[in-house]
Amino acid sequence: MKLLIVANWKCHPVTEKEAKNLFNLTQQEIKKIKGAEVVICPPFVYLSQMKPSSLVLGAQDCFWEKKGAYTSGISPLMIKNLGCQYVILGHSERRKYFKDSNRIINKKLRVALKEKLKPILCVGETKDQKDKGKTQKVIRDQIERGLKKVSKNQIKNVAIGYEPRWAIGSGEPCSPEEVRVVDLLIRKIISKLYNRNISNKLRILYGGSVNSQSAQTYIQEAKVQGLLVGSASLKPKEFVKIVKESLKS
Ligand code: PGA
Repeated sequence: MKLLIVANWKCHPVTEKEAKNLFNLTQQEIKKIKGAEVVICPPFVYLSQMKPSSLVLGAQDCFWEKKGAYTSGISPLMIKNLGCQYVILGHSERRKYFKDSNRIINKKLRVALKEKLKPILCVGETKDQKDKGKTQKVIRDQIERGLKKVSKNQIKNVAIGYEPRWAIGSGEPCSPEEVRVVDLLIRKIISKLYNRNISNKLRILYGGSVNSQSAQTYIQEAKVQGLLVGSASLKPKEFVKIVKESLKS
């Protein structure tokens, strides 16, 4: 299974020129690397300007309807038509600032799957939940509710990103041992919801303050099949190094 490395640019950069530059610089370097599927998720407004060849295009979110009277909604069909293959759903910043609930995330995920997009469902606990020993319950809840009514056939196109909220953008990454525990927990949940075979094939990614020094340990020790990279993906050299380091595992 190819490693899946996802760059989430979040709400950066602020000009189209910078976005094109960032994309092209990253693409030039990624072209020389084999063995990983590298997805770039820019803000919606830049999607039509990106010309992916060695990189794959993804979106950071989508709405749950295909079209209609939904002011400001960006539909899965629109992003699909702009060349996106992937869509990040349930990112913790969406949950926190835009109040995306598990029910809303599930609606988005099912429509995205219908439109043949590959959702990356993000799950993760807050610091407070972790301190109270609630990590397992939170993850189970987010997965069971996020994947409600998703069939055995559809789940094959879903990847799950474990992103502990306290590790995102904090410079306080989760240890590979802790990620390993959650990786196994996610597989157990998926086994129960679907079956062991599906669970074994599921791609689980880690995200939260990943850099070129830590990338390899997550793949090697936590045994995840990919990474979600936020701030480091805005620095092409560092991001390319993350991809290269991941492949050394
Ligand atoms: P970070 O973000 O790498 O800046 O911590 C990760 C993410 O939010 O996916």
